[in-house]
Amino acid sequence: MARNKIALIGSGMIGGTLAHLASLKELGDIVLFDIAEGTPQGKALDISQSGPVEGFDASLKGVNDYAGIEGADVCIVTAGVPRKPGMSRDDLLGINLKVMEQVGAGIAKYAPNAFVICITNPLDAMVWALQKFSGLPKEKVVGMAGVLDSGRFRTFLAEEFQVSVEDVTAFVLGGHGDTMVPLPRYSTVAGIPLTDLVKMGWCTADRLEEIIQRTRDGGAEIVGLLKTGSAYYAPAASAIEMAESYLKDKKRVLPCAAALKGEYGLSDLYVGVPCVIGAGGVERVIEIDLDGGEKGQFEKSVNAVKGLMEACQGIAPSLK
Ligand code: LMR
Repeated sequence: MARNKIALIGSGMIGGTLAHLASLKELGDIVLFDIAEGTPQGKALDISQSGPVEGFDASLKGVNDYAGIEGADVCIVTAGVPRKPGMSRDDLLGINLKVMEQVGAGIAKYAPNAFVICITNPLDAMVWALQKFSGLPKEKVVGMAGVLDSGRFRTFLAEEFQVSVEDVTAFVLGGHGDTMVPLPRYSTVAGIPLTDLVKMGWCTADRLEEIIQRTRDGGAEIVGLLKTGSAYYAPAASAIEMAESYLKDKKRVLPCAAALKGEYGLSDLYVGVPCVIGAGGVERVIEIDLDGGEKGQFEKSVNAVKGLMEACQGIAPSLK
């Protein structure tokens, strides 16, 4: 049986973590790409040498040329610059858009059949631009954000209620920015919606609101602590969950930044929504009912994403 090939485009902290996780899970053979000479080669060699200790069989290779990603089944894109304290994700738009143009061309040339997961910020606009620059089918290009944001929400809820994270589910809709929309009605502990848990006295509505706000600020909280860059363990774990669902045709329902084709009354844009991820890529976008307040928040988030897309078009007219 042919082994899967996973190309990691960008070999910084997230790229290295992705390579390690993909190796531990034996998802396939891994190519780390970066323009910085030596970095992908060094990380590939280092992780390979953990194989005998951890007991995994994966071949890891570092490359500085896009030809090295040829024939990849999955490409996970982290190339670009992370934010530092005091910056918003949106401040990265100009610099990372140029990087997406090069990455899109590289993927189009060498890995046109890949499932592409973008992590670069500002996420929703970057994945939209990457799809256009690469010309790959929309259902094969997605953004990683909802899994991360929901993971943060689940962590905070499990901590608050003193229960296992395994028994907490959460949905976060919308863009991966300050306007993201954590949904208490669709988030549960042992199947009980948070809105009911508040009625049952598990926590007050005000406390739940604080947890929701902490989720929205989750990326910035880590940037503030690290000071030199942004989160990498949880973003990498989130992207690997998406890659695994694709490679194993698991059909997981995961919140992803996906191209909408009329769902939620929207098209021609990427925004966070629940999706079924299987061998076909995004096989289905799940439309959930939103009440008036949730709709209003989602619209605000969508408008923020549209503003970023317009800014991208101002810089790169080919995106129009
Ligand atoms: C995150 O949410 O951790 C990432 O989007 C990185 C960032 O800048 O917050």
